[in-house]
Amino acid sequence: MIDINNVSYSYNDQVEALKNIELHISTGEAVAFIGANGSGKSTLMKLINGLIVPGEGTYIFDGEEITHKKLENESFSKSFHKKIGFVFQNSEAQLFCSNVYDEVAFGPRQMGLSEKEVDKRVKDTLELLKIQSLRNRQPYHLSGGEKKKVAIASVVALNPQVYVFDEPMNGLDPKTKRFLREFMITINNAGKTIICSTHDFEYIKDVFKRAVVFSDTHTIVRDGNYNDIMSDRNFLQQNNVI
Ligand SMILES: Nc1ncnc2c1ncn2[C@@H]1O[C@H](COP(=O)(O)OP(=O)(O)OP(=O)(O)O)[C@@H](O)[C@H]1O
Ligand SMILES: [Mg+2]
Repeated sequence: MIDINNVSYSYNDQVEALKNIELHISTGEAVAFIGANGSGKSTLMKLINGLIVPGEGTYIFDGEEITHKKLENESFSKSFHKKIGFVFQNSEAQLFCSNVYDEVAFGPRQMGLSEKEVDKRVKDTLELLKIQSLRNRQPYHLSGGEKKKVAIASVVALNPQVYVFDEPMNGLDPKTKRFLREFMITINNAGKTIICSTHDFEYIKDVFKRAVVFSDTHTIVRDGNYNDIMSDRNFLQQNNVI
């Protein structure tokens, strides 16, 4: 489903963020991205979601190479964004509508659903995330954790095949973190692919079968069984993961 072939990326051709990344993710996998601050996790997630394209190497999603040109094509871009949903590390960068209802409705409306279907999806999603009371609020004025919940809801409402969560636990209270863990397990059991970066290991027990570890040289230093990697304390300490 996701094939990253020898990808490198630098911001403004100056700040190196990804170096020779080789990563293949199949449908239905649950993969954790772990690594120190600045190691490249968010950059790779942006690339997987088509917000940036490789400087070198190729990115193939569902058999199609993702390029600037393809993303500029409206129908390709729509079908790509229908399949993959991204919860940004910074929720403020994700929320742009004037109220929570429209924010959550945005994706389903883009997909061309009828207003009746949109309304059902929004209501179900707000209920699932227990944020019905926020429906008429301005996203900009919500608390940090509330913003995160709305950002998660806006992706859940799309019902994508692939969920990419960049530090989704940030700012959430313990109860909501536990909910999110259960939610990830449920959708993964239902066949959804999950890619998630986090430093919050306590709350993601038994969610991931695979971990990909990024180093401060912006390369992948290890890719393997989640539990094996998490029990290798020396390795994690050397790579500033713990
Ligand atoms: N918009 C940007 N412009 C310039 N440099 C950037 C930009 N975003 C990230 N970088 C740089 O790219 C590198 C990788 O950053 P990235 O955000 O991918 O790291 P990360 O692993 O997600 O870190 P964190 O754990 O702090 O979220 C860092 O050196 C960072 O300073
Ligand atoms: Mg990040």
